[in-house]
Amino acid sequence: MFLVGLLDGQVVACVMAGFEGHRGWLNYLAVAPEHQRQGRARAMVAEAERLLRAAGCPKINLQVRTSNQGVIDFYRRLGYSVDEVVSMGKRLEHDEKAA
Ligand SMILES: CC(C)(COP(=O)(O)OP(=O)(O)OC[C@H]1O[C@@H](n2cnc3c(N)ncnc32)[C@H](O)[C@@H]1OP(=O)(O)O)[C@@H](O)C(=O)NCCC(=O)NCCS
Repeated sequence: MFLVGLLDGQVVACVMAGFEGHRGWLNYLAVAPEHQRQGRARAMVAEAERLLRAAGCPKINLQVRTSNQGVIDFYRRLGYSVDEVVSMGKRLEHDEKAA
């Protein structure tokens, strides 16, 4: 699911949510800088959570770069906590920009 937040016909927020049958995932949450700190990301996540819950999802996982402390603090405000797990990945395509 890819949700966008519209204000006067302009896209000001987005989030991608997925559910593979075991865990829900959130990616690409963003709010345009001039519209931040007005509760818009909280509203986007609430809608994503509503849709995931309706799909039968029992838990949401997400990944944030350890250097992105502001986003970690944001998710903590929304009730998310750091899970004691190691996040692993393997790149199948070369992408200089992504980790
Ligand atoms: C993270 C982001 C989506 C937050 O959007 P936002 O619309 O400003 O967030 P909200 O206004 O809904 O904030 C919700 C709560 O989180 C808090 N919060 C938001 N950004 C925060 C920050 N950088 N540091 C600490 N707290 C923060 C708010 O104060 C608010 O708290 P409260 O309602 O309990 O008082 C936005 O900063 C952003 O787009 N960042 C760049 C993209 C990015 O890094 N996305 C994450 C990818 S993993």
